[in-house]
This record gives sequence, C-alpha cells and structure tokens, in this order.
Amino acid sequence: MSDALTPADAAALLGRTDVNDLEEILAITNTDVNEAIHVVQDNADAIFTWDYEKGSRPALNKLYEKAKGSQWNGETDLDWSIDVDPEKWFVGPVDPRFGPDGSLARRPGSPVANWGDVEWGQLARESLTWRMSQFMHGEQGALLCTAKIVETVPWIDAKYYAATQVMDEARHVEVFAKYLDTKVQDSYPINSHLKLLLDDIINDSRWDMTYLGMQIMVEGLALAAFGFMHQLTEEPLLKKLLRYVMSDEARHVAFGVLSLKEFYEGLSQAEIRERQEFAFEAAVRMRDRFLQQEVWERMGVPVKPLVAGLLDIPQDENVFQQMLFSKIVPNCKKLGLLDAGDAWLRHRFEDIGIIQFEDWVDTGEEYESLDAVSQDRDAAAQA
Ligand SMILES: [Fe+2]
Ligand SMILES: [Fe+2]
Repeated sequence: MSDALTPADAAALLGRTDVNDLEEILAITNTDVNEAIHVVQDNADAIFTWDYEKGSRPALNKLYEKAKGSQWNGETDLDWSIDVDPEKWFVGPVDPRFGPDGSLARRPGSPVANWGDVEWGQLARESLTWRMSQFMHGEQGALLCTAKIVETVPWIDAKYYAATQVMDEARHVEVFAKYLDTKVQDSYPINSHLKLLLDDIINDSRWDMTYLGMQIMVEGLALAAFGFMHQLTEEPLLKKLLRYVMSDEARHVAFGVLSLKEFYEGLSQAEIRERQEFAFEAAVRMRDRFLQQEVWERMGVPVKPLVAGLLDIPQDENVFQQMLFSKIVPNCKKLGLLDAGDAWLRHRFEDIGIIQFEDWVDTGEEYESLDAVSQDRDAAAQA
C-alpha cells in the first residue's frame, strides 16, 4: 500500500521501525528520576515587533480581552478545606474495573485476573496519582512553551494573549502540585514518553511548532482528559479544580487554532508535511504515555503482558483512550493538516484508530461555553 507508513519513516519519526513495537515502547524509561532540574536547548530567536497596532488580528484580540476578565485565584477560588475522600475519585463508569484495565482482567491468563477489591482500589489510587502527576508536569511544559511563544511569535496580539496564558499555566502547575501534595500526598516523576515530547516541542526553533505541539496536541489532549475526568469524578475539590482549569485550556487551544490557521495558509506543501509528521509523532507519544507503565511497575505486576493487552484492546472497549483524541483530530482538520498533500496525516490517524473524531466540534469557539469564571460570576449576581 503506497500510503502505509514505511519502517524507515517510522524510524526517522519515532526512533522505532514499528509504531506498536512493545519492546521499544517499554525501553523508553525515565533514567534520571532524581535530577532536580532538566535542561533543554530552546534554539529560538526572541523577536521584537514595532507594529503595536492592537486588534489587527481581531480574533486574537477578543481572546486576550476575554482572558483578562477570566483570571481566577487557585488559593481563594478553590475550597482547600475540603477533606478529600479517595473513594469519590473514580466511581461508576470510571472505576478501573469497568474501563480498559477491567477488560484486561477478563482475559484468560491475565496477570490481573485474580485481583480483588483491595488491588482494584489500589490501582484506582495509583492511576489518579499518576494522571494528576503527568498533568502537573505537562502544565509546566505549557508554562515554558508559552513563555517561549511570548518571545518568538512576531504578532503583537499573539504576544499579548500568550502573556495571559503564561499566568494561567503558572496557576495550573500550582493547583495540581498543591492537590498532589496536600490531598493525595504522593506523586510520580514525569513519564518518559511525555518528557520526550515536551523536549521535542521546546527544542524546535520554529515558533509555530511550539503552538502545534503544545496548544494543539498536548493541550488538546488535556482539554479532553480534563473534561472526561470532570464529568465522572464525584470528588468536589477535584471537580471544581478541573472545571476552572478547563475553562482556561479551551482558550489556549483556541489560541493555537486561530494563530496556526493564518500561518499555515502561507506555507508550502513540504513545510505542511513537516507539520503533519510532527502532529503524528506527538499523537503516538501521547498514546504511549497513557499505557502508564510506571503504575504497573508500582503495582508489582508484569508490565509487558499488561501493556501488550492494553495495546490490543478493541477500540470500542477503550473509551477513555479514544476520547483523549476527540479534540485533537477535529482541530487538525480545521487547520487543513489532515488532508493536505496526499492526506498523509489522515492515513496515520487511521493507523492508530483515531480518525473517527474528525467531524467532532473543533475548539475555535468552544471557550465561550466553558468559561467557568464568568458563569460563576453571573450565578452569584443572580443569587
Ligand atoms: Fe494548563
Ligand atoms: Fe493550557
């Protein structure tokens, strides 16, 4: 098939010849968990613009004005006096027994086939700790990336908006760190697939690649994951925290869509292909990360058969995994990345089973309906 990903292409993009090569996926582990800092070269020019005309990009200007009125304070707008009950983190359909991990358990010979309530309860706790930890690390990635965008984007409206996002991301790192520290009292180091991805994004010298990697891919996934957890958790502090963070994230993804739509219109076919490849690489790294190999290690079960089983789960049984891509794919479509050239990215998204989201709502305007701060302000005014 001419449109298949060749082993050589896969090796160049991902460092392995087969996207689903289990040995290679598991070989990527975090070897420096005890390092206190991590240095990445950001290879970019800091750009001044002398064109100060505010609002020459009206959509970005509108987003900036919106952001100024939608700031919240993680210390005072969330009720940290709530005594968190871990039983409320995952209930009903998000109990791990009913998700992909549960469908693993039902397989003959599965290493988790004999698990009882104690082990499943422990898995629920570890998964929550792991997810919140990766969100926290990802939020720090967003903080650094957005600070970089302030320097590198040539448009004044985008610099203004990005500056508000820097503040948002500081708040996000702060609230995830505080929740982990004071309520979960546990955390995980950064997952190495996520770390590779963040390093790649920061490393790239082209300003639009920061947007594609962070605002479209990482934040697109975060918006979907936060939405899913927010809908299903019954722990009130976490629920409000996620609602407030999502309200910001929706603006951030819109910022990416609006900025790149204009920029991509001026790119050549070859340049667009590089963006398609970058988007695919990011999607695979994020899928690999959600195999949560570190959790299985902590649970003391054999990692390889479990991860193999997870990669093997039929799509319709793996709703969480699939939902993660429900924002990314329509946004890539809106940017024209899916079908540009020979529709290379469409074929890759077919390969990894996420193309079905292409016609879901994109995130260009969604921030209006997710604005938690103004909704709460209106509700308070009416009361
Ligand atoms: Fe964030
Ligand atoms: Fe964000």
